Amino acid sequence: MVDDINELLDNYDFNRSEKEEFFSFIMPIISHEEFIKRYNALEYPHHDNISLGYHILSDAMVTYKLIKNKEKYNNVDLKTAVIIAMFHDLYELPWQNSPIKKEYFTNKHGFTHPIEAVINAITWYPEYFENKEMAYMIIDGIIHHMYPFPVKSARKEIEKLELNNLKKYKNLLPKYKNMIIESTNRNKLFNLSISRSVYLEGRIVSKADKQVSLSKELKSINSLQSLITGKLRYK
Ligand SMILES: [Fe+2]
Ligand SMILES: [Fe+2]
Repeated sequence: MVDDINELLDNYDFNRSEKEEFFSFIMPIISHEEFIKRYNALEYPHHDNISLGYHILSDAMVTYKLIKNKEKYNNVDLKTAVIIAMFHDLYELPWQNSPIKKEYFTNKHGFTHPIEAVINAITWYPEYFENKEMAYMIIDGIIHHMYPFPVKSARKEIEKLELNNLKKYKNLLPKYKNMIIESTNRNKLFNLSISRSVYLEGRIVSKADKQVSLSKELKSINSLQSLITGKLRYK
């Protein structure tokens, strides 16, 4: 994986010191078995033949570069933004060709995967959520990374969201459950929340996610169709 990352860093024009800094941010995250699993394109295809892990790393690199290259982002917390990017799509199960049928349309992957990602991130990487303010910044950035696409509002009935990792949610400390509920309750329209992250760090990740997905990964009609149908055909 490290060789691939170095190649990708070259593609995004990272110099030597930027590479070192980037690696220092991501190393504790990529060495986790759950991340390694998501780096396998056969187990976790994200768009076309690109793995979920590869997509996440691309997002983190674009996030890093956006912040480094723009003066207006001088005061942004670079490390936290990269961490939000590294966590933003850590959802539970591969979303394409999923055998799981959701009862409600607004419980489908597009609307609920940021909530699954938050739950997994807190479960697998608790050390990043110890500080209350940082925890909310990361949680809110993950929850609203799909903006302007809505996220399902958790309200107090998260059991009804048909999450694939509900068991893990139940094991979270109440303070984290409250942060998730609070974040998904902002700017509500019926049972959806349509809101940018309150923090610039999260908003930059959201921007990077779109740049990566739309310009680099969704090259084929096949992959564009899969976004709508949830089915990926291998050629
Ligand atoms: Fe996403
Ligand atoms: Fe993404």
